[in-house]
Amino acid sequence: MTAEIIDIRQNRERALARASTVLSEGFPIALPTETVYGLAADATNPAAITRIYETKGRPRFNPLICHVADFAMAERYAEFDPISRKLAEAFWPGPLTLILPLRAGSGIHALATAGLDTVGIRIPRGFAGELIRVLDRPLAAPSANTSGKVSPTSAAHVAEDLGEKLQLILDGGAAPVGVESTILRVEDGAVRMLRPGGVAGEEIERITGLPLIRAEGPVAIIEAPGMLASHYAPTAAVRLNASHVEPGEALIRFGDTPITGIEPATAVFDLSPSGDLAQAAANLFDYLKRADASGAKRIAIGPIPNEGLGEAINDRLARAAAPRE
Ligand code: TXA
Ligand code: MG
Repeated sequence: MTAEIIDIRQNRERALARASTVLSEGFPIALPTETVYGLAADATNPAAITRIYETKGRPRFNPLICHVADFAMAERYAEFDPISRKLAEAFWPGPLTLILPLRAGSGIHALATAGLDTVGIRIPRGFAGELIRVLDRPLAAPSANTSGKVSPTSAAHVAEDLGEKLQLILDGGAAPVGVESTILRVEDGAVRMLRPGGVAGEEIERITGLPLIRAEGPVAIIEAPGMLASHYAPTAAVRLNASHVEPGEALIRFGDTPITGIEPATAVFDLSPSGDLAQAAANLFDYLKRADASGAKRIAIGPIPNEGLGEAINDRLARAAAPRE
């Protein structure tokens, strides 16, 4: 099988029709969201969800995010406390996932939530939301990559990794945010960040007026995304906070931070020459893949400020650099 690729910018109606057919038959499709490309399937259909886990080679105890079209639809599946509601109003549609109590008997299958009594919910921006509205079913969707690998931010990334395993890939161009959604859980009036992502921590604190509770270091609990330490991993090794490039390395830098020994690098990428963290997030996964493809034995990464979207970037890089199994 080789996936059919439909460009939604040119063939929106055909993309909607084909996607609806494949999803209704219980098969996953790859589709663009504003964060990364997702591997989406009907969250109420156990066979369809099983195919997501099989296609990714993903452990089944790691629950999936369920995507809905609007707030009314979210309320069919989850119970909102006042703080979660405020966050949803501020950031949806957008790169925020809320972990909420699952409404019993709502139809989301236990395979999507890994049997938990909570569900991760978000409303994606753009085409994915439109498709869900047409289907009127929640779509479970992890990133559309083999488990443990770098997440895809283009249809070409998906085709390269999973093209032989899928019927349909929808192409919406480069994902504008470039890192996955921020995952939050509100408990006893406090907001915990389970995964930094496309909404900056500072923005969340500004909306709630509450300090975010952050996990310390790479989070190892099952709730935490990317849950295993090594994740988002290219084939080459990854070295962080580099101020010097060593022989055989590719370099990914951020802005004008001084770095020496650049000439022999197998490839050099600047995440954002102007030092813009949002641009850096949008380029991150593509540059990791390209640095990997340059034949480097290791990828050296220059320092990146740990504020705003830098928190999500540094989280992904720490996982990419973590010891491999
Ligand atoms: O931006 C995104 O969030 C992308 C796009 C496709 O929407 N999706 C994504 O999904 O990153 P995934 O499966 O790679 O990451 C979802 C994470 C999982 O690691 C899981 O641990 C966490 O969300 N999660 C999902 N449901 C949960 C729940 N009920 N409780 C705690 N964590 C949950
Ligand atoms: Mg993922």
